[in-house]
Amino acid sequence: MKYLLTNSVKHLHIPSVKVERKFFPEGELYVRVVENIKNRPITIVSNITPTNLLEVLFIVDAVKQAGGKIKSLTIPFMSYARQDKMQKYGEAISGEIICFALKNLKIPVKIFDLHSDLLKKDFRFKYRTLLSELIKKLPRKNFIIIAPDKGGLKRASAVAKILKTKVLMIKKKRKNGKVSMTFSKNLFGKDVLIVDDMISTGATLIEASKILKKNNAGEIYCVASHGLFVKNAREKIKKSKIKKIIVSNTLPVKPSDQIKVIRVEKVLQNK
Ligand code: R5P
Repeated sequence: MKYLLTNSVKHLHIPSVKVERKFFPEGELYVRVVENIKNRPITIVSNITPTNLLEVLFIVDAVKQAGGKIKSLTIPFMSYARQDKMQKYGEAISGEIICFALKNLKIPVKIFDLHSDLLKKDFRFKYRTLLSELIKKLPRKNFIIIAPDKGGLKRASAVAKILKTKVLMIKKKRKNGKVSMTFSKNLFGKDVLIVDDMISTGATLIEASKILKKNNAGEIYCVASHGLFVKNAREKIKKSKIKKIIVSNTLPVKPSDQIKVIRVEKVLQNK
């Protein structure tokens, strides 16, 4: 099997089929598969970033034109999946449009820890999780599992099932980007593990840690598949009461004393 990686995942340690990319003077993107891949099985690996959908579509076509046999388009992280329904009149359901474009490629698509269950309706797509791998790196503790919002309850429950422990849910509201939470359950000093699909601004995690501490949580750990850490998320999280965060390297994350980054190339290739 040969792998072809787009720029969005060039931080992954998987050797890639060579691709030439350039822009025409008008700004149009040009891609060409340089190697001879005729009749070779190819897995294309690419995140969907906020701006690279065209590149992904062109790469898939370039592989087809070069005679490669596409086994799968593997997407470690897909942006736009939080835009999965209309919240305000007139909004685009961007996540659905991305899925529609991918579906029309008519190739098998594999997506890791897709945020939205609403988007998981296409039979061509396979949905995989990295969480089962990431939790192997946790210290041995009797964690109570915490879902930081209703949408994450299924995900957190699946982790609780593997760890044979119980799950509790925080109620989260987001208004104009500001997160507010309610939770009232005495945790009697028990260690907790917040399970999430992604850490973006860190607001969810920080507010969750505050409310859990208010309710007498012991040590606070977090496991999340994708570490976006936008803006000053890392600095804010550093000041919080979170002891350790485990994320995968679906996105290029710099590890720190607080943030452990688990390499998942093997899982992406095998799962
Ligand atoms: C929300 O529904 C997601 O599962 C994450 O909790 C959220 O996207 C994290 O974003 P942030 O770090 O900005 O709170």
